[in-house]
Amino acid sequence: MSITVRPLTPDFVAEISGVDLAQPLGTIDRDAIEDAINRYAVVVFHGQNLNDDQQLAFARHFGPIATSAQKARHQDIKHRIASPEVADISNLDGDGNILQPGSRRRLDWLANRLWHTDASFRAVPGALSMLYAHVVPDEGGETEFADLRAAYDALPDKTKAAIESLVAEHSIWHSRGQLAVTQYTPQELASLPPVPQRLVRRHPGSGRKTLYIASHASHILGMPIADGRLLLMDLIEHATKPPFVHAHTWRQGDLVIWDNRCTMHRARPFDTTKVRDLRRVTTRDIASTLEQAA
Ligand code: OGA
Ligand code: MN
Repeated sequence: MSITVRPLTPDFVAEISGVDLAQPLGTIDRDAIEDAINRYAVVVFHGQNLNDDQQLAFARHFGPIATSAQKARHQDIKHRIASPEVADISNLDGDGNILQPGSRRRLDWLANRLWHTDASFRAVPGALSMLYAHVVPDEGGETEFADLRAAYDALPDKTKAAIESLVAEHSIWHSRGQLAVTQYTPQELASLPPVPQRLVRRHPGSGRKTLYIASHASHILGMPIADGRLLLMDLIEHATKPPFVHAHTWRQGDLVIWDNRCTMHRARPFDTTKVRDLRRVTTRDIASTLEQAA
């Protein structure tokens, strides 16, 4: 059986059916999925039944796997999922209990509510994120996605010219700081120093130009901090206007893949006394955006 790709809009978000992701993936299906990601940037599979190893095996078809920054930083706490390649995007602690309101992992996890793109604070950032839903609440907890290619295309030519060669500084501590989460040790701070990333990049799989912005982006190199920050705020506001945004309402068994190189995403609120158990595997980009063709 071959896969079916059903676009939700002409260029953004498609549902893919006719493939069991727990089974070994054939080349034809792999390539069709990659083509769909290159075109639609977000793809959704329903009704999957994956354990962590199967989710990882599927992801490995699309590139080397990024290791979780979370586990590297929180070596002192018990993790529910041991593998550094599987990020725990749940509201559960190492014993499977709902996280306490003030717990460190919960405060870190809340930063997913800010518009961001995964691991832009690493020199070699994230490429494809694959998030799989084990348990979802009855209401709320959607994930929203913003199409940064369409947002770029819609900018006035003058703005495009002005931002063309700008470089932003990204830091995980900047996004955490927006939520007043700042209690990190000097070792933690040193483990993830700020990195430069292009503000405008070309998506290799589609050839389309795209913004590359996120809650991690703090300011623009060579510009007063305030000016750069305001520019980033304006661009994020522009890119998250309704025509560029799609909300995914989760069902158990959904696997959603998004391309971090040309989208932003954020989690929406839900009753956090209920369980929401999602797990993410992310492939690594090939290099820093500064080393990639603009
Ligand atoms: C992520 C993320 C959003 C969500 O997994 O990287 O930001 O809705 N998730 O859980
Ligand atoms: Mn994320």
